[in-house]
Amino acid sequence: MTADLSSPLRFEGLARLDDQEIEQAAAIMESIWPDYVDLFRREMAVYRDHQDLFEPFFGVAKKEEAVVGFSLLMASMMSTTLLVITWVAVRPDHHSHGIGRQLIDLCLAEAKRRGKAVVLTTTMPEFYTKIGFKLLDHYPSDEPSRFPGPEEGKSFLLIRA
Ligand SMILES: CC(C)(COP(=O)(O)OP(=O)(O)OC[C@H]1O[C@@H](n2cnc3c(N)ncnc32)[C@H](O)[C@@H]1OP(=O)(O)O)[C@@H](O)C(=O)NCCC(=O)NCCS
Repeated sequence: MTADLSSPLRFEGLARLDDQEIEQAAAIMESIWPDYVDLFRREMAVYRDHQDLFEPFFGVAKKEEAVVGFSLLMASMMSTTLLVITWVAVRPDHHSHGIGRQLIDLCLAEAKRRGKAVVLTTTMPEFYTKIGFKLLDHYPSDEPSRFPGPEEGKSFLLIRA
């Protein structure tokens, strides 16, 4: 992949991706998270087949029809009042040009249109706190969980690493 930072960028918010867009996004994922590119492709197929359930919104940055940045906003499986942002990635040769921030802004505008707050999990909180996100120590929802825990109606986030 070679950088051409001179040609104009275009940002699109899409409900569906075509095969070429998925493959171009997968190439970015492969350059950043090679172990997860198969998972990415599988997830994209699931979201396409179950659009009504996941309500995906793809933020895409394009340069001369090539995808150079990607973000996904979708329904939370934990809460009907929240949305989730995931798979945020910018082609490495295009980092630090404001693309990541604009991809998130696109998702946040869509979340606002839907009237819902956004949560995400990340290994890179510094990027998100820089662009206005706040760290949480618990899941921000008072609604009854779809997966009731020991305390009925409360959600718990657990990890086993
Ligand atoms: C994280 C990522 C999406 C940022 O995209 P980007 O286009 O390079 O970011 P931007 O240029 O929009 O940066 C926006 C702001 O965040 C800051 N920033 C970007 N990456 C940062 C990082 N890793 N740590 C701290 N701040 C960061 C920038 O300095 C900028 O701040 P400024 O406006 O004060 O200059 C990109 O680096 C990437 O694809 N990384 C690999 C995948 C990844 O880690 N994704 C996120 C975790 S799910």
